[in-house]
Amino acid sequence: MIIKQRPSWAISESEVTPESIYLNRRKFMSGLAVTAAAMAIPGLTQAAENQGKPALNYRKVVDYSTDETATPYSDITRYNNFYEFGPSKEDPARHAGQMVVDPWSVEVEGECARPGRYALEDLLKPHSYQERIYRLRCVEAWSMVIPWVGVPLADILKQLEPTSKAKYVYFETLQNPEQMPGQRSLFSTIDWPYREGLRMDEAMNELSFLAVGLYGKELLNQNGAPIRLVVPWKYGFKSIKSIVKIRFMKERPMTSWEMIAPDEYGFYANVNPEVDHPRWSQSRERRLPSGVFRPNWIETTKFNGYGEQVAGLYKGMDLATFY
Ligand code: MTE
Repeated sequence: MIIKQRPSWAISESEVTPESIYLNRRKFMSGLAVTAAAMAIPGLTQAAENQGKPALNYRKVVDYSTDETATPYSDITRYNNFYEFGPSKEDPARHAGQMVVDPWSVEVEGECARPGRYALEDLLKPHSYQERIYRLRCVEAWSMVIPWVGVPLADILKQLEPTSKAKYVYFETLQNPEQMPGQRSLFSTIDWPYREGLRMDEAMNELSFLAVGLYGKELLNQNGAPIRLVVPWKYGFKSIKSIVKIRFMKERPMTSWEMIAPDEYGFYANVNPEVDHPRWSQSRERRLPSGVFRPNWIETTKFNGYGEQVAGLYKGMDLATFY
């Protein structure tokens, strides 16, 4: 049963309207993809903290990467939303170690020529990894810059051969209450499993990404190991973690936050400073790391600064109606 109540990410108006300190830079690096070893990656030294995880081979794709300073590894891995492990930001780092991520398989179903259960390594085998440094903007008005490693979502989806009837793609997270304390909680507002979806053209967009690592190494469980979606122009809740199901659909699927509060969290969830959340402004964001004396507020930009790549997907749509 879903108990409708204020989600834990709800923040007060006063918390999200102080002055901006830094302007968001939407500068993109341009040029060819080069090997990671040949490039200085902002904040790469943070990777030292990630010694326990296997390193990944990847090439750095600068075309899609921001040159903004990457958020420290410690913030990316200790300040998380992963309600399966509890509602507070520290819960995922504390509890996600219980999740078994190897072996891992992904069930593929619906409107495609190659349905079935795939071992994760088989799904990934035909592809080489890329690094993309993307901004992540949460609907709660905080943000980070994360050097993800993974594969374009379009490459994986094409391999599954969606039919012309596939208009949407739906994703589900692991459901395992034994390993996920948040799924055992009687106070949870989410009707498990966590669900998300994209329109097919959004999913095939060049920016949509499936991440298996960050800062050059495999994902920690709290960040959605072993495979999670990253849709950088949408609020963070669209970037579903620990995916076990991909379904191609004719109809638009219902998604977890839309099921809880459809007037607050829409299917599209495009980052948009012009459309406020009913209970707080979306015009600014707190860029992590931030603290009481240096909250680090910056302006939020439409489509999280990725308008050049994605604005065309929404041509003619009223983004205040389709929020
Ligand atoms: N995926 C699942 N399965 N469960 C979740 O609670 N939280 C979402 C998204 N993906 C969530 C999820 C939200 S609200 C955000 S902001 C991002 O994950 C946070 O990703 P991060 O913790 O890696 O920064």
